Amino acid sequence: MRALNCGRLIAYIAVCLVAHVEGASTLQSASSSVVSSSASIPASQASQAISSSSVASSSPPTATGSGASVTSPASLVNLFIGTTNGGHVFPGATLPHGIAKVGMDTDSPGNHAGYDADPQFNVTGFSQLHDDGTGGSIPLSLFKVFPFAFCGPDDKFEQCPTSLTGRKVLRKILSDGSPDDFAEPGYFASNLSTGIHVELTTTRRTGLHRYTFPAGTVNPRIMVDITNDGQQSSTDPEMLLNGTTARITGGASFAASFGPGRYRAFTCVDFKGDGFDLDQSRQSGAWLGNSGIQQTTNLQQLYFGFREQLGALLTFSPKAKNSPTSILVRVGVSFISSGQACANAESEIPTFDFDGVRKAAFDEWNELLGRIQVKTTNVKPDIVELFYSSVYRTHISPADYTNENPLWVSTEPYYDSFYCNWDTFRTLYPLMSLHDPVNFARIVRGMINIQQHEGWLPECRGATAQQFIQGGSNGDPILAEFFVKFHEHLSTLNVSSDDLYTALLADAEMQPPNWDIQGRQADVWKTLGYIPSDVWEPSGTNTKQVSRALEYAFNDFGISQVAKILGKSDDATKYAKRAGNFVNNWNPDITVPGNSSIKGMMQPRFLNGTFNFTDPRHCSVNDPLMSFCFLNAVNTDGFYESSPIVYSQFVPQDTAKLIQLQGGNAAFINRLNFIFEQKFFDSTDEPSQQIPFMYHYANRPGLSTQTSRQVIAEFYNTSINGLPGNDDSGAMGSYVAFYLAGLYPVPGTRQLLLSSPFFPEISFFNPIFDKTTTIRSKNFKGNPADGTAGNVFVKSVTVDGKPWKSNCFLDWDAFEQGSAIELELTNDIHVSCGKGADALPPSLSTGGFD
Ligand SMILES: *[C@@H]1O[C@H](CO)[C@@H](O)[C@H](O)[C@H]1NC(C)=O
Ligand SMILES: *[C@@H]1O[C@H](CO)[C@@H](O)[C@H](O)[C@H]1NC(C)=O
Ligand SMILES: *[C@@H]1O[C@H](CO)[C@@H](O)[C@H](O)[C@H]1NC(C)=O
Ligand SMILES: *[C@@H]1O[C@H](CO)[C@@H](O)[C@H](O)[C@H]1NC(C)=O
Ligand SMILES: *[C@@H]1O[C@H](CO)[C@@H](O)[C@H](O)[C@H]1NC(C)=O
Ligand SMILES: *[C@@H]1O[C@H](CO)[C@@H](O)[C@H](O)[C@H]1NC(C)=O
Ligand SMILES: *[C@@H]1O[C@H](CO)[C@@H](O)[C@H](O)[C@H]1NC(C)=O
Ligand SMILES: *[C@@H]1O[C@H](CO)[C@@H](O)[C@H](O)[C@H]1NC(C)=O
Repeated sequence: MRALNCGRLIAYIAVCLVAHVEGASTLQSASSSVVSSSASIPASQASQAISSSSVASSSPPTATGSGASVTSPASLVNLFIGTTNGGHVFPGATLPHGIAKVGMDTDSPGNHAGYDADPQFNVTGFSQLHDDGTGGSIPLSLFKVFPFAFCGPDDKFEQCPTSLTGRKVLRKILSDGSPDDFAEPGYFASNLSTGIHVELTTTRRTGLHRYTFPAGTVNPRIMVDITNDGQQSSTDPEMLLNGTTARITGGASFAASFGPGRYRAFTCVDFKGDGFDLDQSRQSGAWLGNSGIQQTTNLQQLYFGFREQLGALLTFSPKAKNSPTSILVRVGVSFISSGQACANAESEIPTFDFDGVRKAAFDEWNELLGRIQVKTTNVKPDIVELFYSSVYRTHISPADYTNENPLWVSTEPYYDSFYCNWDTFRTLYPLMSLHDPVNFARIVRGMINIQQHEGWLPECRGATAQQFIQGGSNGDPILAEFFVKFHEHLSTLNVSSDDLYTALLADAEMQPPNWDIQGRQADVWKTLGYIPSDVWEPSGTNTKQVSRALEYAFNDFGISQVAKILGKSDDATKYAKRAGNFVNNWNPDITVPGNSSIKGMMQPRFLNGTFNFTDPRHCSVNDPLMSFCFLNAVNTDGFYESSPIVYSQFVPQDTAKLIQLQGGNAAFINRLNFIFEQKFFDSTDEPSQQIPFMYHYANRPGLSTQTSRQVIAEFYNTSINGLPGNDDSGAMGSYVAFYLAGLYPVPGTRQLLLSSPFFPEISFFNPIFDKTTTIRSKNFKGNPADGTAGNVFVKSVTVDGKPWKSNCFLDWDAFEQGSAIELELTNDIHVSCGKGADALPPSLSTGGFD
């Protein structure tokens, strides 16, 4: 999905206001231990996080080699990257792929993940569920908890300003102008201007909050919000408050963020004094708007209609007169029932052990991140921080909703927040292949299970609802990616190849009742090999015909890869042929206005075979019409969120053929240069992601190395605005992680394009193979700050001591075997892929993919 960009997003963003913070903010983060410019954590901790001797005991063994290595990668994660100016990153507490995402909610217009690092925005509560980096309407901002140190002029229950606007409070501001917030994996803390210290941690389905009220607080109060989801979309709220136990149960129905559906969510809230006996609440009741109503324990007594602001409010006794009072709030969530929310909370956090829960969450992250190890000699600390922060964001979504699926009963895992596969199929799952195949397998099983119950694979699912499709059926390359890499381990991973293949064929062959939310416009694709602009079907809106067709072609390529391994050679041939259908949208006669050297473009086509015309600059920053290219209901231009110029490069399965269509290597390189020079490359949007690496296919890998490094230097950094657009459920995070690792994946293949890592050594531990693969650069001298030039170009490659056939790609075999890969670097950009016929990365038309 695209960045929040005023003037582009239409129906889905009600307010468009981009805030700017003057100067760099130095929000406290664990990662500041390696950022020299922010000194909120003592340097001694930096030396703990990066040590020259050992790796953490929880980390897998690394290959030998000198140089500083990272012992506690979770300490290096900066959760605040991309938390303002449209990144929509979630910086709160979550487990890897956890449901509960416990975080601060602000009133920022870009509060898709709740938080905004800009301190001008007020806090509205601490909610339990979120997504990361999405667009659409505000998703899952549910069940906010909010502490009051004092209510109204007389500190009365009835005077508490409980409504969403009434309770707004600013954070404390540090001397450098940043808010007093802190985050590390599994933990978030903030100081409010009311003097209340807020801390949050989490298990998979339960948030644990700790509110410390300043000494002297007479009436520490906490409210729970049942209805405000960020969109004011709630209906049918229910809530019960037990005045004796102070337990609150409830839930409501809410609107999906990016589609027509609705969902129900539930919560169960319990309280406990931290270090003292809370006993029971002194006052309790419901609240409605801006007033507490004591003794009201059932919301049905209050509910007057749609969109009311409702919840529960409690007053507790302070711990002691002149010491701070800490109250623990345990918030279970469920998509099944409030009873299940209580059961989840009781089983996951039985003793309200805040520090224990926090440590368990941190350790889980540290183990996961520690499977990727880097040496840091000659590497600036902010690059290490950027790397681990990016890997971290690869593991926020999709979320493990197992046992929380309200739609059907199954023993299979159930995952949700695929928001959207269009964003994540390119890099997120290929990164999981490298170090997290077990979670990847569970996600794949969950996707197959969805297909078995709904007919088609999920595409842009959120909060258990089907949401809008952005292009092709991009679950297909995700399943293909998994299968091509782990088909020899299916029984260990409990994945059925029959069910996987059946799920793929459903997408490829069966047209669903509404291909805006699942599947494909399969019928015309099967008969014509393109999506005509002038076929009006009742089953979906007639949009993005060209970009969808290009994705269908790549989706079919993934299916052909799976069929080949399964020995279904007829199917393999059939789908490889369909993967070649991208040529059907190629109009060789179109040039870019004003630049006739760029000739030939993907273009819309009619049923009768003739082409319509879409200006190649359409949807780009150079579009004279500044067109919207979002989910327009009637859209005859044929492209989604990117220009024809960008989509004309999207043929990862057959770049060799694309080069031929575009006039050979020199013309192809000229076109790539043009895309970067004229700013058609759009760093905010996924279809552009692969373009910097495409020089590989024209045998100029040095240009890919330089361009991809320039992209990092220009668009990605560790500041709060260090993302050019939405993180898109980790799509951008995984993209950056690959670039820093010196790799770029071709999903659904056993090949990874190779450049130089930003580290002298990087290793990947794969738990399924039980092998560690190391990529080491013999003569690493550091990274040029602006990405230009430097001793970074790959001159030659050995794998396990033997010369490797290509300087441009690696085979998955090396990662299965746990190879030692050694790169020789040079400062000469004119390196090549190598000499033999096998030196260029594979393409369908030049023999296909092994
Ligand atoms: C935040 O709240 C303060 C008072 O609590 C108010 O003065 C300020 O205008 C609010 N800011 C925004 C952006 O609403
Ligand atoms: C908030 O205040 C507490 C107590 O003064 C302090 O320990 C903490 O570092 C502050 N900041 C955060 C983000 O917790
Ligand atoms: C409150 O909870 C207690 C303990 O579970 C229970 O005995 C009591 O019946 C509950 N009260 C109400 C009004 O539900
Ligand atoms: C494997 O999948 C089957 C079929 O869904 C399921 O019944 C079984 O519990 C799974 N086993 C494991 C170890 O996950
Ligand atoms: C093809 O169809 C388009 C759209 O209906 C129409 O404008 C065009 O004239 C047709 N061309 C031919 C050659 O039939
Ligand atoms: C042809 O393309 C133009 C420009 O996008 C569009 O306005 C027109 O409606 C298209 N024609 C048809 C028949 O789709
Ligand atoms: C066309 O693009 C090429 C490649 O970027 C550039 O060298 C050339 O100057 C451009 N020509 C015009 C007229 O803009
Ligand atoms: C950090 O990245 C953002 C987003 O791409 C960019 O706007 C900003 O200029 C960058 N900051 C620095 C210091 O490079």
